[in-house]
Amino acid sequence: MPVTSKFVALKNYIPTGLPKETDFEIKTKEISLDAKNNILVLNLWISVDPYMRARMTERKNYKPPFNIGEEMEGYALGIVKESKDKNFKEGDIVFSNFGMRDYFVCNSNDLKKIEPMNIPIQTYLGPLGMTGHTAYIGLFKHGELKPGQTILVSSAGGSVGSTVCQIAKNMGCKVIASTGSDEKVKWLKNDLKIDHAFNYKKIENLVLHLKEVCPEGFDLYFDNVGGDFLESAIFQMKNFGRIVICGRISQMNATNPGSGLKNMAHVLVKRLTIKGFIIFDHENDREQFETDMTKWLLEDKIKFKETVYEGIENTPKSFIDLLEGKNIGKMLVKI
Ligand SMILES: NC(=O)c1ccc[n+]([C@@H]2O[C@H](COP(=O)([O-])OP(=O)(O)OC[C@H]3O[C@@H](n4cnc5c(N)ncnc54)[C@H](OP(=O)(O)O)[C@@H]3O)[C@@H](O)[C@H]2O)c1
Repeated sequence: MPVTSKFVALKNYIPTGLPKETDFEIKTKEISLDAKNNILVLNLWISVDPYMRARMTERKNYKPPFNIGEEMEGYALGIVKESKDKNFKEGDIVFSNFGMRDYFVCNSNDLKKIEPMNIPIQTYLGPLGMTGHTAYIGLFKHGELKPGQTILVSSAGGSVGSTVCQIAKNMGCKVIASTGSDEKVKWLKNDLKIDHAFNYKKIENLVLHLKEVCPEGFDLYFDNVGGDFLESAIFQMKNFGRIVICGRISQMNATNPGSGLKNMAHVLVKRLTIKGFIIFDHENDREQFETDMTKWLLEDKIKFKETVYEGIENTPKSFIDLLEGKNIGKMLVKI
């Protein structure tokens, strides 16, 4: 029997600037099972992620632009409603890349079954999902994190950043966290027990501030924002320090490209390593991450905070609000 699927589509590409709700539309279409797509799923949770901004431009990137007028993609967790595949049955909870919509049809190659554990299922879009994996791979594989190091984390009140902070604390590191609101500072300090957290929007001179709060300097900077913050952090790196370039959200909506780093001399003299990475290159490198993260979650060593918007119609707003910093922890849409 056909089902009506409601989905979010991009109306036009957004080359620069903050997206507006009018850049998106909510559309519907009739879908039904066929010989190729023999499983019907209803999404329960949709992941809202900054990388989607790059797919809203026509610029070459590591993922192609979204198709105008068609379903946007993204990670999601759903429940199987009907299945003609012997490996999936009604009621199974499944992970897919068919986000930004409610109902969809697909086949077993497109789905990963989630075995229920004693944690909320949406954790599979947060610490046990792509953002937790990003924190883990960024810290251990690219940052070569060692116990007792001093680390700086930007966008620390967000999904990746808050996980980075907690993993580093669990490793016995000293963590300095930057975030964009007093509420997030409070959460980082009081609930996550981060050594020092500050609201970067209230800091007049970031170079001096970093020097003041961490005179010994940083072994590792986990960079989620790029731009001027990165330049300021470089000044306070220790010799042989490492900078992991995870994101550049401060520049994602920029209307001009800004100037380049003016302190590359520090990179040379301090013999720094600056390393970018994309988590999609590490899809087959999840085993140790899943083992460690599951253990930490069950032992309450990683706390998960989420900001939830309800209904597919609110998905465009959730994305814009994510870019504006209105989330604490992981931004999710609940269907
Ligand atoms: N390399 C990879 O494979 C990979 C994978 C996943 C995510 N990422 C990147 O990791 C970063 C964090 O992702 P996430 O999913 O955890 O998002 P998030 O941190 O939960 O949310 C985005 C946050 O960015 C901050 N922000 C927005 N504009 C900013 C600006 N101009 N300057 C500084 N901060 C700004 C806001 O927090 P404030 O209140 O702090 O401003 C906002 O809450 C993003 O840059 C993302 O692109 C990279």
